[in-house]
This record gives sequence, structure tokens and C-alpha cells, in this order.
Amino acid sequence: QTADWDEDAAEKGGYEHFMLKEIHEQPTAVRTTITPRIVNGMPDFASDGIDINKLSSYRQIFIVACGTAMHAGMVGKYVIEKMARVSVTVDIASEFRYRDPLITDKDLVIVISQSGETADTLAVLKLAKEMKAATLAVVNVKGSSIAREADHVIYTHAGPEISVASTKAYMVQVAVMYLIAFALSRETGHITDAQCAEFTEKLKNIPAVIEEAIGLKDRCQFAASKLLNAESLLYIGRGLDYALSMEGSLKLKEISYIHSESYAAGELKHGTISLITEGMPVIAVATQKSIVEKTISNIKEVKARGAMVILVCGKDIEVEDNVADIIIRLPEADEVLMPMVAAVPLQLIAYYTAVLKGCDVDKPRNLAKSVTVE
Ligand code: G6P
Repeated sequence: QTADWDEDAAEKGGYEHFMLKEIHEQPTAVRTTITPRIVNGMPDFASDGIDINKLSSYRQIFIVACGTAMHAGMVGKYVIEKMARVSVTVDIASEFRYRDPLITDKDLVIVISQSGETADTLAVLKLAKEMKAATLAVVNVKGSSIAREADHVIYTHAGPEISVASTKAYMVQVAVMYLIAFALSRETGHITDAQCAEFTEKLKNIPAVIEEAIGLKDRCQFAASKLLNAESLLYIGRGLDYALSMEGSLKLKEISYIHSESYAAGELKHGTISLITEGMPVIAVATQKSIVEKTISNIKEVKARGAMVILVCGKDIEVEDNVADIIIRLPEADEVLMPMVAAVPLQLIAYYTAVLKGCDVDKPRNLAKSVTVE
């Protein structure tokens, strides 16, 4: 038994769980994924056999995936649309495949998958090919079914991910979304070469910022300790912060079994705010300066109804006293890249909540790492 334990501990690199190990592997995973795609300071997919000029010629981009990978796609949509001004839709694969999607031969379908084996995502890829769209797969597992089927593949280099709850695979999927967004924006003339080089440089520096964010561990554990008795909680945010809070909410519910939803902060008043009762936790993400005021006013609305607010926000965002019960201040980064930084405390909050509740963190009930059946 001792031998088994030693082996187990060695596999986990001394960490208590694979999930925590994988959270710590994120800076390296991002570096390994982006480095081969940055040439002379610019995003470049030539080593993947992808021509950016061609990539920018499509009428519309469809991003399709399941679970966490779909959430990475959500970040991709916000960033690609905002920066490159190309229309992007994001869909859940199991929905997309059965709704007679309007794909044409002038479109690009991007599927995102860690395992490369998810049945619904693979089915969408086949459908897109039948409909003569160009296909690009962002995949972590080499030689997987999705990688073999797609016209083009961008491999993420997260390395093997053991924990069912995805962390480092999400992070590198998001990193690839940024590289695509920067490349497309430059190609379509929405940013200059100099701006593109600047964004790319900032992305190169993100691993160090992620490292710093991992240093928020104790603060996240403290926040987690306040969630243990909750029956239900909400994540709120706007724009990129909303895209990110979807992932934060999924992470928490899948491993801690606490019911949780993510809501676009401005939508709360259309129904969901009625759920707020005294002490209900609300995790608010506010990293985007242009809309932070709006999010703060939504936070005040839930606070006035008794919510216990945990606010994840940038260093320099001004927050009046009594707006939040716990504030987690993120290390600095360009706000467009903030989802990669803010993802870390959300992962850590989910992790510590599950640990403190005594859940099987790496193997949550009813879930599989790879879903190869419908
Ligand atoms: C399963 C996993 C999730 C994952 C989803 C999509 O549900 O538990 O963590 O996000 O499948 O998997 P894929 O391998 O396609 O990224």
C-alpha cells in the first residue's frame, strides 16, 4: 500500500490532487502552446500549415464545442468579434448538430476539444465537412478522431490532463483563441502591425501573471470556506467577464456539487434576482473597465437583497466599502487578456470548495473525462 501511495504521490508531483497540479502547470502549458505560433513577435500558424490570409476570408465563423471547451469558445467569440470585427457564433455541439445550421462553403467552423473524441463535437465536424465549410480543430490529444477529421488542426500543448475538471486545457484553448483573434485583426486591418506585436508580447507575458494569480491560493481557500453550506450560488459578469463566469460556475458545480448558475449581470433583474435570499453567495467577476460601473451597480442590487458577494476584480478597480464581502484582487494584465488571469482564482475557489467538502475532486460523480457517446 505504501508503494501505491508513493506512486500516486509521484504522479501528482507532490500535489494532493491532479486538479491542483494541473492548475500549477498552466503557465508552462501556455508557454508551450503559444511559443511555436509566435514568429518575429507576431502570431503565425505556418507551422500548423494554416494561412492567416485564408482564415480571414470567411463570411462567418462558427465555434462549436462541449462543456469547458465551449466556454473557451465563448471567450474566443468576444475577442475575435471585438478585435477583428468578424461575425462569430458559439454553440453547444449537441444543439448545433440537430438544428439544421446555416453553414455554407464560405464559412469556417472551429471545433474545440481537449480529448478530440467528444461524440457530439466530432459529429458537428463531419456535418460541417458535408456542408463544405472549412474546418479547423483546436485539440489537445494528438492523432485523436477530431484531429484526424479536420481540414486543419491547431494542437494545444497542455500535456495529459487527468482531472475530469478541465483547467490547463481550458487555459491553452483560450490562449489559442487570442492568437487567432490577434492574427485575424491584423489581417483584416483592424489593428496595425505594431499593435499586433504589442498584444502578442502581452500574451507572451501572461504565464508570469498566471503564476502570480496562483499565489492567490490562500485568499481563494478563504473564499471557498464561505461557500460550504450554500445550496446554490450565482456567478455574474458582463462581456468577457460573463464568458469567464460561465466556466467558473461549471467548475464549481461539477466538483463541489453545489448548484450554481452563471448569469449576464444585466439579465438578473429579469427573473433571477428573485432567487437572492439572505446569505446567498454571488461571485462577481469585474475585470473589464468599460463596463465595470454597470457590474458594480448589479452587485449593489444583489447585495441590497442580502447576497454574500465575492468580487474578483482588477487591482485598480475602485470599489466602495460594503459592495463586496470578500474582494480578490487580480495581478495586472491588459484587460483583453484578463480572462486568462481571472480564470485562476475561479478554478481555485472551485477546487478548495470541493476539497473542504470532502468531494472526490479529480473524479466527480457521474462525469467522464471524455464523452464518446451521445
Ligand atoms: C466532458 C468533460 C469536460 C469537457 C467536455 C468536452 O464533459 O468532463 O471537462 O469540457 O467533456 O470535452 P472535450 O474533450 O471535447 O474538450
